[in-house]
Amino acid sequence: MEKEIKNKLKYLINKKKDLLTICEELELKDYEVIGLVELMKQDGELVDYVDGQIIKLKKPLKSNDVYKIPNNLERLRLLLISDTHICSKYERLDILNYLYDKADKKQVNYILHSGDLTDGLSNRQQQLYELKEISYEGQRDYTIDKYPKSNIPTYLIAGNHDLWWVKQCGTDICKDICKNRDDLIYLGSDCEDLQIGKLKIRLYHGKGGGYAKSYKLQKYLDAIPIEERPHILQTGHIHQAFYMKQDNTHCFQTSCLQDLTPFERSMGFSNDKSCWWVDINFDNRGNVYSINQELETFDKKLKKTLY
Ligand SMILES: [Fe+2]
Repeated sequence: MEKEIKNKLKYLINKKKDLLTICEELELKDYEVIGLVELMKQDGELVDYVDGQIIKLKKPLKSNDVYKIPNNLERLRLLLISDTHICSKYERLDILNYLYDKADKKQVNYILHSGDLTDGLSNRQQQLYELKEISYEGQRDYTIDKYPKSNIPTYLIAGNHDLWWVKQCGTDICKDICKNRDDLIYLGSDCEDLQIGKLKIRLYHGKGGGYAKSYKLQKYLDAIPIEERPHILQTGHIHQAFYMKQDNTHCFQTSCLQDLTPFERSMGFSNDKSCWWVDINFDNRGNVYSINQELETFDKKLKKTLY
């Protein structure tokens, strides 16, 4: 019953109804509605009571440079993805749609994306032949339209490909896309910290070339002071999956959801297409008790079987 009322309340908040109308629609007193909003906040919903009205927040509140989402669940399920390179002719929207459907069935709570949402526009002229859309507006509108829509929120950062648009035309394409999609929440560019209950997560993209696929992740983790280290460090950019655990940090290098491009092939780069499914259990004080993961990989053969 409470779930049904919360869903109705969520619907009315999304419709930007004022508090009086919400009270009338739900047949509740204002303090009962405000109490429900507090419970929804504890469930991690981005809603708040401000200046006499119930509002939907576009982002979680940030304190000490960390976005904070309350959590009262004993178990959280996450899907970690990265480097979707939407608008590349080599994008794999079929895999992405399959993953979002599966996340819904698995009752995933949050999807985290560690950058390169779009393919962007570089100074390399041959990239034009690898793009479905070459303009800023084209890439923005295509991504708003084609990126899978979900009831599960996706928290994302911008990667170096997305940030090429800042150099090209001074505009942050991820911010622009997320403004037009309630289910996509933009945290910022390249590196951001998110805390869900007591679970600390860092999303990091990075730039430049690398050596062995594990090198950058190890080097980056070593540069974070011990007391600042998250439970989960999710990185992108390398287009290859890798996992390691050091002390209390589980490091997930998250590969891409894009086929190998002619540029990558000519440079001798390799990539793999995969994602991480991560389950987190909390103890009765809300502390992180266990983190377990499963890597799901894809190859070209799946194109026929998925859709
Ligand atoms: Fe990438």
